Amino acid sequence: MGWARTEPRLRKRVSALLQPFRLGTLELPNRIVMAPHTTAFTSDAAANLPTDRHVAYYRERARGGVGLIITEGLHVHSTSFQAREIDASRDDAIPRLAEIVAAVHDEGARLIGQIMHTGGHGGNLQTGWLAPSAIPWSTGAQIPHELVPHEIAEIAHAFAATARRLELAGFDGVEVHVGHGHLLHQFLSPAANHRLDAYGGDAEGRARAVGETLKGVAEALSPDKVLGIRVSADDFLPGGLSLDDSLDIIDDLLGTAPIDYVHVSHSMYLEGYTLATQIADMSFPPGAFRQFPAAFKHRFPETAVIAICRLDDPGVAISMIEEGAADLIAMARQFITDPAFVAKLSSGELEGIRSCIHCNQGCVGRLEAGSPITCVVNPEVGYEAVFRSLSSPPRPERVLVVGGGPAGLQCAVAARARGHAVRLVDAGDALGGQVRHAAALSGREEFALLVDELADAAARSGVEVELGRRIEADEIDEEAWTAVAIATGSRTEPVEIPGAARVWTVVEALSALDHLGAHVLIWDREGSWAAAGLAEHLARAGKHVSIVSPAPAIAWGVSVYSKLALLPRLAELGVDFCTLESPVRLEDGAVVLAHTITGRERRLEGVSSIVAAGGLSAEDSLFRELAERGYPGEVYLLGDAFAPRSALEAVFDGKIAGASIGVPEKAATALPGRRGHRFSRLR
Ligand SMILES: Cc1cc2nc3c(=O)[nH]c(=O)nc-3n(C[C@H](O)[C@H](O)[C@H](O)COP(=O)(O)OP(=O)(O)OC[C@H]3O[C@@H](n4cnc5c(N)ncnc54)[C@H](O)[C@@H]3O)c2cc1C
Ligand SMILES: Cc1cc2nc3c(=O)[nH]c(=O)nc-3n(C[C@H](O)[C@H](O)[C@H](O)COP(=O)(O)O)c2cc1C
Ligand code: SF4
Repeated sequence: MGWARTEPRLRKRVSALLQPFRLGTLELPNRIVMAPHTTAFTSDAAANLPTDRHVAYYRERARGGVGLIITEGLHVHSTSFQAREIDASRDDAIPRLAEIVAAVHDEGARLIGQIMHTGGHGGNLQTGWLAPSAIPWSTGAQIPHELVPHEIAEIAHAFAATARRLELAGFDGVEVHVGHGHLLHQFLSPAANHRLDAYGGDAEGRARAVGETLKGVAEALSPDKVLGIRVSADDFLPGGLSLDDSLDIIDDLLGTAPIDYVHVSHSMYLEGYTLATQIADMSFPPGAFRQFPAAFKHRFPETAVIAICRLDDPGVAISMIEEGAADLIAMARQFITDPAFVAKLSSGELEGIRSCIHCNQGCVGRLEAGSPITCVVNPEVGYEAVFRSLSSPPRPERVLVVGGGPAGLQCAVAARARGHAVRLVDAGDALGGQVRHAAALSGREEFALLVDELADAAARSGVEVELGRRIEADEIDEEAWTAVAIATGSRTEPVEIPGAARVWTVVEALSALDHLGAHVLIWDREGSWAAAGLAEHLARAGKHVSIVSPAPAIAWGVSVYSKLALLPRLAELGVDFCTLESPVRLEDGAVVLAHTITGRERRLEGVSSIVAAGGLSAEDSLFRELAERGYPGEVYLLGDAFAPRSALEAVFDGKIAGASIGVPEKAATALPGRRGHRFSRLR
């Protein structure tokens, strides 16, 4: 798995991805496309217009050798976008969009703008929510306003006007979003369109609004501009569109306008599991949806087909092109992770490629939280210009990194890249820290790539690594080390439950499956992957699992896009969900659970062992001792040792600390996180 460790047989076939392709009027140098992904780099304060962060972000990816970039969704109407998304419905968006185009063209890539209206799931307080039918997109969501025909015409016109704006800004083409459960897909799908007028009913009626929109967009564009559509091949929803339905609808739509390509995705914004398939996480196998673009290519051999989703696997991407199952392979998250991915493929430096681990934490997980994207693997996301303008440290330092988890590894690699001499020491017998436990969970194996690739990068760059040695404060010699990074992680505090002989930690439970008995109660105090992942792991090993959570939800810290697949998997494995409860004692062989709010108690019979997740504390004693001693060099405290959080923060801290070493404090504050308190620095 991953590109860096691509086996030699496959390496020889990478050339399949590097063949040129003609897409409409565009000559593309290779078969890889950067797929649309919302960055949320803008804000209300920036009037929802593109910002300098967008320009730097797209420039960096164009520079990285990809032939074609399709932008994040650009909203065509004021009723569509939410905070932080780009409003392309205004003429004053044109000059800012033109800056992105210029940056991408300067670097030799082509740029298509994706235009969209989110319909029933994407409105805002000021404008309300609009949809073909008054169906809330998920439980508890707003009931949208059912569009009347003149409003449908207004939105179709807004698509055309936005396409025109994009042409004026210099884009090479436009992709109309007809999938993912956005407005146009809501018209197509019987799950979302219950209308009885000319815009509903049979397939022809449901496709009417889309056909009119595409016709208008095509008329607004000059003939040399590329026109594509993004579609969902399958709604993955009872009562929604199947693959066969979608093929028939697209067949009709291809007759309404001169469409150069079909970009074949899947899923719908309508409750549940379907959404989890759209940005499929590591629990889905690579290429899980490759049959969809293949079916489109088979049905429409004359139209270019772009494939997407979990195709950032060498074997899958290469074979799809070789088999003619798609003309172009799009990837979204791989470009968040490694902007220079294609350049490295082209130059044969595959070992330098950083792979997306499909964790959904930093990218779409942050969007859910209303924040700009970042990445567990690539902390430079959104700060490209800052990192590019960083000046070199005045002199090489001698750096000791204590701890080889993600924080320590990332710090060592970043410090070494800036010319420092780095030694990394870990008490364990392998690098990776807690990530090794995370990756030991069923379906979470891909997490290991994060630390494997960092460990490889450390070895390649000449970081000296010593394993099996626990560092004590008094052996950190101030003559030897001008900078010390403490990345010693966290520990789980023991917890007692009256009457229970033992309460296991997640890590202990992972290596003691045979001792846990048949029915395991997991007390999840942090809503994390550690607890939910252990539940799946144990259930797959044949145990009966009850997750008990003091909160009203299970796995509340897990990205929605992952959780919507995780919870059905757990349910299928027979895991019990006990929310708003905590175990308080064992009594007559039963666990007594108390309700979080009412305190009411009930007995859970037959539990053989209890595992408590959460209750971590920072392993920061080395730092405190060095602080007390007045260590004269620079000392950093990072990752869980600063405060127990996740691999996302650990890598971020590691990167910023590695880049800060030797840099005077004033200059270092230009780095993200240095003005706040992401991590501590002495001196
Ligand atoms: C089961 C499980 C599942 C998880 N799942 C996720 C997930 O899905 N997503 C996520 O983001 N996070 C997850 N985490 C949390 C994540 O792994 C941690 O937040 C992250 O590893 C912290 O990184 P770190 O480098 O700060 O510390 P650690 O990974 O804890 O590494 C610290 C290292 O320091 C070494 N060390 C400690 N003291 C010394 C010393 N004195 N001398 C030398 N070496 C020392 C240790 O041996 C260890 O290797 C999970 C954790 C667990 C246990
Ligand atoms: C952070 C993020 C934002 C996304 N935003 C969009 C978007 O604006 N428009 C769109 O059509 N798809 C969007 N997607 C979906 C991707 O284009 C793609 O279909 C999905 O990530 C699966 O491809 P991948 O496995 O290569 O990441 C987004 C995905 C991510 C991760
Ligand atoms: S945060 Fe995770 S899923 Fe998202 S791009 Fe980075 S590695 Fe991939």
